[in-house]
Amino acid sequence: MVKEREKKKIFAKTYGCLMNEYDTERIFSMLKNDFSPVNKETEADVIFINTCSVRDKAEKKLYSYLGNLKKLKSFKPNLIVGVGGCVAQQEGRNLINRSKIVNFVVGTHNISFVPSLIKRIENGDSQNEVVVDYRDEWEELSGEEEIFSKNELTSSFGAFYSPIRALVSIQRGCNKKCAYCVVPYTRGEEVSRCPDEIEREIRIKISKGAKEVLLLGQTVNSYGRKRVSRVTFEDLIRRIDKIEGLERIRFTSPHPAEVRPSFIELFTDVKKLMPQIHLPLQSGSNRILKLMHRNYTVSKYMETVYALKSKIPNIAITSDIIVGFPTETEDDFKNTLEVMKEVLYSSSYSFRYSIRPNTYAFKKYKAEDEVLKEVAKNRLICLQSLQKDLSLQYNNRFIDKKVKVLVEAKDNSSVNNLRGRNKENILVNFKGRNVGIGEVVDVKITSASPHGLKGKVCS
Ligand code: SAH
Ligand code: SF4
Ligand code: F3S
Repeated sequence: MVKEREKKKIFAKTYGCLMNEYDTERIFSMLKNDFSPVNKETEADVIFINTCSVRDKAEKKLYSYLGNLKKLKSFKPNLIVGVGGCVAQQEGRNLINRSKIVNFVVGTHNISFVPSLIKRIENGDSQNEVVVDYRDEWEELSGEEEIFSKNELTSSFGAFYSPIRALVSIQRGCNKKCAYCVVPYTRGEEVSRCPDEIEREIRIKISKGAKEVLLLGQTVNSYGRKRVSRVTFEDLIRRIDKIEGLERIRFTSPHPAEVRPSFIELFTDVKKLMPQIHLPLQSGSNRILKLMHRNYTVSKYMETVYALKSKIPNIAITSDIIVGFPTETEDDFKNTLEVMKEVLYSSSYSFRYSIRPNTYAFKKYKAEDEVLKEVAKNRLICLQSLQKDLSLQYNNRFIDKKVKVLVEAKDNSSVNNLRGRNKENILVNFKGRNVGIGEVVDVKITSASPHGLKGKVCS
């Protein structure tokens, strides 16, 4: 075992979704014996960039970041730069041709190669390496899962990362092929992970301090359909519910077209499953949903919403929405706003449509089908402003109520010095003493905003 101060240093930049955060965390775990994570590029021996190509903007971020690293590499010629994630999968060797500072490119099915690729480059066996082959089976990784403290990793992960919340991947890839989406091409076909491995990882993470698990997959409710026999998503959740020491279960994202009654029953039967669901709508227009190849109508979607609300009236429903899909009219857009109001989303992520390589929409639509940039931008502003009102309306219901908060962080410089989430996954900042990270406490809510709640610990 290398002593801590003798370890080499790794810096990671993570773009994109929680899958990427999960992969970065796993790469750190694999490298733990030889590397410690650092918070600044300038301190690093290795910089790993985990990329996203879901929208053009996300992809561009990689190239501007690589541009910024050029100078550092000229001062530090031994610096190793690796690129992983969805742009790596999509571009492969092109990345090395395009940017001379990149030493290795590793695809989304090959992150187990990262330690050996680094070694080969360190030893001078190779100047650059590209591994982007698809594989059919699940790629289990060596090295025990670790939980890293937020302090260690502030610049490597997004705001949602927390040591008390274990990210655990249950499914890779996607078989849906929505017309706009690049993910099936960058993550490959849907593969479900073996339930024993999922349970093992959750148990390890709990033994290291996690209290909540967030299960990850592109269409989690189709879990088990591919490559794992006889274990459904429902079976898996019930099995996870039995794990001692685990307090809360969440998952993201289920697909609306795959919702069945047994899925809805989970929310009433499984004690640890939290009253919250991310159910991406994408559009509130049946015409656009059809063009998007989403395989559901607004009324089918609303059936699920009503079924959930009738069982759990306060359930927090969140969404992903795209504006400006080719041929979207003002009426289509208005329908989306109407559905948003009807559901009363507690929050949503919304995006302007971006043309992605390889996708059906990329091949099908011509310039004249596209929605003008200014029009789409205005629709997005309008939608986000509505969402702000809806979030406030949703959050207001907790004022003067007592809620159970799982504490995630402490900030001694702030009046509301503690932070966590209630069962519905709404962020709560609150005052309290002698409360530790990972505890569940009762908090009386005193105010609400579109972004969350404030309160104080009940004495
Ligand atoms: N599997 C998830 C979504 C993964 S991608 C699901 O089906 O819900 C995350 C979100 O990015 C999508 O829900 C969609 O809203 C958005 N997105 C994907 N491709 C996009 C594109 N080409 N342009 C704009 N937004 C896009
Ligand atoms: Fe993309 Fe659709 Fe698959 Fe989600 S379900 S990852 S939006 S293709
Ligand atoms: Fe981006 Fe790939 Fe995730 S494209 S959203 S990092 S699956």
